[in-house]
Amino acid sequence: MKVQVCIIGGGPSGLMLSQLLHLQGIDTIILEKSSRDYVLSRIRAGVLEHGFAELMREAQCGERMDREGEIHHGFYIAHDGKLDRVDLHKYSGGNSVMVYGQTELTRDLYEARDKLGGKVVHNAADVTPHDIASDKPYVTYRSGDEVIRVDCDYIIGADGFHGVSRKSIPQDKIKEYERVYPFGWLGVLSRTKPVSPELIYAKHERGFALCSLRSQVLSRYYVQVPLTDKVEDWSDDAFWEELKRRLPEEIAAKLITGPSIEKSIAPLRSFVCEPMRYGRLFLAGDAAHIVPPTGARGLNSAASDIYYLYHALLDHYKKGDDTGIDGYSQRALARIWKAQRFSWWMTTLLHRFPDRLPYEDRLQDTEFEYLFSSDAAQRSLAENYVGLPF
Ligand code: APR
Ligand code: PHB
Repeated sequence: MKVQVCIIGGGPSGLMLSQLLHLQGIDTIILEKSSRDYVLSRIRAGVLEHGFAELMREAQCGERMDREGEIHHGFYIAHDGKLDRVDLHKYSGGNSVMVYGQTELTRDLYEARDKLGGKVVHNAADVTPHDIASDKPYVTYRSGDEVIRVDCDYIIGADGFHGVSRKSIPQDKIKEYERVYPFGWLGVLSRTKPVSPELIYAKHERGFALCSLRSQVLSRYYVQVPLTDKVEDWSDDAFWEELKRRLPEEIAAKLITGPSIEKSIAPLRSFVCEPMRYGRLFLAGDAAHIVPPTGARGLNSAASDIYYLYHALLDHYKKGDDTGIDGYSQRALARIWKAQRFSWWMTTLLHRFPDRLPYEDRLQDTEFEYLFSSDAAQRSLAENYVGLPF
């Protein structure tokens, strides 16, 4: 089989790039190791930068997002007994974010690929890039007992942090930067009315908490937990009681609790691989970088990778111009590191670090005092949260 672009990974990054390229007549295939049901069973975050929402519309996948998603013009930070609102619309010059579950977004992307007859292979085993430093790369994968070869011009590694693509690059050709945080997030999804029409990020001496939502009948909540905790250590009742302890009394009093339909603990990590290209292999999304979810940058930092790769491949195939391809890694990393900075800043601002110094406690207090007394500080937060320009 021969295609122009072979994409490893059928998550949001791979699906979005495949859809955008297909609409421009560029032939792609997606090789996904899991079943579609498994991919769609994963619960992920739910805040989209306006840039990602625009990409969904450009990819002809934005109709349900625009119908069912919610435009949010701000969010709240609860700290030291206060509830302060961050006015994203005012401080970002009129921008906002779209609150829409990434699971639903991934479903929309799959349905769009099906509608166009896009080639998506599920349960592709032992996907392996070959000759990535040559001008004739190819990928093999196993389907049952059959090994299938896909010849291509370019390979896109959109296979997430644990994928095969980054590991296919000679280790002496890449440098990895990582920070693992000394805590995780215990998340609960419940079919309950959200406690607040806008998100509430809470800093508390017992630890961080977050009140989010997927719709007006589906709520998403998180509490910071030690890395030693296991999800089976937490009953629903224990979770709700701990969440209430970390919220302002007037919010806790109106929290509607209910059975969890999903409950899991996610570790927090910051990670970047440089460069994001080796020969004809390009890394995109979680395959190249990971952020702690505090700043809601995960999918949104994948968005600019996809935008840059889409235009680079378009220029290559339509104009014979390889400027975008040759500049992809540097351009993507410039925005990735700004997302890393913002995610680290939000995580440091809102979490209780087990080994913190009293000095750092006072610095954290001062961050809040400065943030909510300075228009410049709130403009900085807002422009990062709604998404820096691609
Ligand atoms: N071969 C084929 N597919 C693979 C392999 C492999 N060796 N390893 C992983 N995959 C698949 C996974 O099953 C997954 O469906 O690659 C896909 C990667 O998807 P994500 O992990 O969601 O990464 P990405 O598409 O970059 O999404 C970026 O969106 O899903 C959210 O918050 C999440 O930050 C993440 C962001
Ligand atoms: C979520 O809704 O899952 C969510 C929202 C905002 C974040 C992280 C997660 O910063």
